[in-house]
Amino acid sequence: MTTDQAEALRTLRKQEKTTMAGTGNAGVKKGYYRHGVRMISVTSGKGGVGKTNIAANLAYLLSMINKRTMILDADAGLANIDVILGINSPYNLSHVLNGEKLLAETLVEGPGGIKILASASGMPEMTDLSRGQKLTLIDELNSLNDSLDYILIDTGAGISSNVMYFNMAAKEIIVVTSPEPTALTDAYALIKVLYQRHAKKRFRLIVNMVRNPSEAKEVYKRLSNATDQFLNLTIEYLGYVLLDEKVKQAVLQQKAVAEIYPNSPATRCLARIAEKIGSEIAQDDEEGSVKFFWENIIDRNCG
Ligand SMILES: Nc1ncnc2c1ncn2[C@@H]1O[C@H](COP(=O)(O)OP(=O)(O)O)[C@@H](O)[C@H]1O
Ligand SMILES: [Mg+2]
Repeated sequence: MTTDQAEALRTLRKQEKTTMAGTGNAGVKKGYYRHGVRMISVTSGKGGVGKTNIAANLAYLLSMINKRTMILDADAGLANIDVILGINSPYNLSHVLNGEKLLAETLVEGPGGIKILASASGMPEMTDLSRGQKLTLIDELNSLNDSLDYILIDTGAGISSNVMYFNMAAKEIIVVTSPEPTALTDAYALIKVLYQRHAKKRFRLIVNMVRNPSEAKEVYKRLSNATDQFLNLTIEYLGYVLLDEKVKQAVLQQKAVAEIYPNSPATRCLARIAEKIGSEIAQDDEEGSVKFFWENIIDRNCG
């Protein structure tokens, strides 16, 4: 895109924004938005359980089955998507929010043609964004609606307001845990907050770094027993990823394990999960669409 074109688009979006802001409906004009993108957060209570690797590899594997996929890196931590994939991204979310760049200008391409929106260092608190910034984000995400099938959001760990924010925005939430008891109790705490304070009801679990499938089932049982008993909430089992030295080797090489070790045990597990996600028919309702994401970002405050 030339600078002139980009400038023209920015101006156009600003004009649209002004028009929308006058509708009195949180800037959302009926029929203005199309939906179709499935927005899925990949989240965890505890850090280091494999979220970033899972998000990056699922995105890659979804693209291998012809699903156009973007990763929104919403974790301001260190080991980010761009680092583990060895990608250099000069711009990030903060440039979009400041209105310096269009979202399309900040996206970088990763393996398999996946699109990556890098995390802002010193990630802004989403709950502190001005209305103008929220509208900018809406406009920008709107521009991607026709060109994507999936947006995977790699959230930070824990229950900070940003993690809550992005989980609230996504209809589908994938919780990642390892078999470690602390990871499990933190996963429970996260689910509890999202369910009780933010009315989230659908959670799917990936158990990462297991030695065998039965260990994963055991972990799922422990967590789902707790949510059943204390929250009256049933969580779904999405799958497991085996503990695999190749994942570590891929991280060191800054490549997706699924790309460079397509037959490794972890890749096979991830491919199974990607197939499952990719073969589901998206529910034809508005929740979980990009539109829903926008409305939530504008209207709700989940600090
Ligand atoms: N299935 C796996 N097998 C072996 N090591 C793994 C696996 N998944 C993740 N790891 C290792 O765990 C570390 C943390 O993973 P990461 O995806 O950065 O976690 P998070 O994003 O949850 O903090 C990575 O450096 C990676 O080497
Ligand atoms: Mg991470």
